[in-house]
Amino acid sequence: MSAIVPLPTSDPSASRGDAVGSVKQQLSKIFKASLQATFPNEQDVDPLVSVSTAKFGDYQCNNAMGMWSKIKGKSTEFSNPNSIGQALVKNLPASEMIESTSVAKAGFINIILSNAWIAKHIERMLLNGIETWAPIIPVKRAVVDFSSPNIAKEMHVGHLRSTIIGDTLARMLEFSNVEVLRRNHVGDWGTQFGMLIEYLFEMSPNGEDAGRQAIGDLQDFYKASKKKFDEDASFKEKAQKAVVRLQGGELKYSNAWKEICEISRREFAQVYQRLGVRLVEKSFYNPYIPDAIRELDDKGLVVESEGARVIFIEGQQIPLIVVKSDGGYGYASTDLTAIRYRLREEKAEWIIYLTDVGQQNHFDMVFCAARRASWLPESVGSSFPKASHVGFGLVLGADGKRFRTRSSEVVRLVDLLDEAKNRCRKELEQRLENHGKLGEWTDHELEKTAEAVGYGAVKYADLKNNRLTNYTFSFDQMLNDKGNTAVYLLYAHARICSIIRKSNRDLEELKKGGGISLSHADERILGLHLVRFAEVVEEACLNLLPNVLCEYLYNLSETFTRFYTSCQVIGSAEESSRLLLCEATAVVMRQCFELLGIEPVYKI
Ligand code: ARG
Repeated sequence: MSAIVPLPTSDPSASRGDAVGSVKQQLSKIFKASLQATFPNEQDVDPLVSVSTAKFGDYQCNNAMGMWSKIKGKSTEFSNPNSIGQALVKNLPASEMIESTSVAKAGFINIILSNAWIAKHIERMLLNGIETWAPIIPVKRAVVDFSSPNIAKEMHVGHLRSTIIGDTLARMLEFSNVEVLRRNHVGDWGTQFGMLIEYLFEMSPNGEDAGRQAIGDLQDFYKASKKKFDEDASFKEKAQKAVVRLQGGELKYSNAWKEICEISRREFAQVYQRLGVRLVEKSFYNPYIPDAIRELDDKGLVVESEGARVIFIEGQQIPLIVVKSDGGYGYASTDLTAIRYRLREEKAEWIIYLTDVGQQNHFDMVFCAARRASWLPESVGSSFPKASHVGFGLVLGADGKRFRTRSSEVVRLVDLLDEAKNRCRKELEQRLENHGKLGEWTDHELEKTAEAVGYGAVKYADLKNNRLTNYTFSFDQMLNDKGNTAVYLLYAHARICSIIRKSNRDLEELKKGGGISLSHADERILGLHLVRFAEVVEEACLNLLPNVLCEYLYNLSETFTRFYTSCQVIGSAEESSRLLLCEATAVVMRQCFELLGIEPVYKI
């Protein structure tokens, strides 16, 4: 796991609870001190600490080579990168974290963590809570713009990715003590709305209740109005005018609009409730649009083009349309206004947008305009404030084409989640039956477990992939209890819980006593994996890649299995220490589940 984003070296931790930062952050601090002592004239060098890929250490520090090229010929003190490495080691402040270091010929420094420190770090976490292992992210407030379905259209499997990935990123940031404004930027404005409203008027000329009935099944309502829009020129014209009247705030139009939105929202809410996703709808920026456009205009960004007012972006053929030729505002007008609002009014330092990769261009242009307007800083890099587009690939069916139902309809999310749950329930019952345990379970327990495992499986199957690639949706694969699936992981967690239960020991008492020892090689490997948790969350957050956390979780489960196979827990001389390692593994697994939006299962 290589960190693409350099670590912050300033210490924003002061006001952030008890978090001490990741191991990497803590080591960085130590090496920063050594760099400053070794090179008093170069105070701004960032320490380059990473997880070791070689077998000589747990971590390494790679500053010597860079420093050598910087000072070569200017200093007589050092003769090669290796001598710099030696000096850095000599100048390290005393630290209980580090057991030993060695300098490779090329100058990089291998670092071995102290077993006693790893053990203590875990013991402290068990006592003070996993929150103390939160990474430190140099952002106070972020906007995560995700899910964002379009009103009057069913939420389908495409929205699943935005919803799941966005929720996870929001959870990881929140865990890292970033205040997150979760925003649902629904498509509820634009040409299609004029179309829907006009159609509603035609279907129910006499008023609202009739309108509600006319809408009935939203999906059908949408299709029928679209058909009319495509076939009937005078209807099309009326629909286009309706948009302008709606945007002008005409009451009859805005009431109809509100009604359609309300019906849609009720459907979305069902999906969010099942997925355990919280978010706040905010996509109405109209009152602020004129002001935003005026500012863009004053700064000389807006030009006339074919009757419309647009912003040309270098390297792009098609401009951003700020005001359409009919005077209406569109997708770009809203997004330009929204980004300004989020930066200026909401004071967000990081704005994260989740849509399929197809919208990458749109966001590149919006961000570029925002930079030219000085709403965002000129530099595009790792510093904040910044805006990031998080794109993702398609969900494919077994045939390699876009995932659809047999009758080639889009797959409704509600149906999909139901199926996942139902399949899980069946398998769970079968499994319990085989073990003669079905009688011990209440219906409520079965249902809750099936939900946790079923929804968890759907989420995990999506999140474990690199989000940019398309992924193939397969119930059989995601519900397999072997391999890299939520089912396997949830069951692994339940098994650890059952080991702890079977020991009949009081864990709270054990925690107070501490005494974790890592003398067996597999105990140490597990301990080291555990303490890496914070830096993995940090990396997943800063690089916006939830699959990094999934990989960590899966490896944790494998590492635990290895430990459990080679180290007897119950009844051994090391029982207390090993039970604490079991507990720490369960705690970290649960926190991973929590960050992935998956509910843990305690018994199977
Ligand atoms: N509702 C839009 C769509 O379905 C996605 C909105 C994404 N967010 C944004 N600020 N543009 O295409």
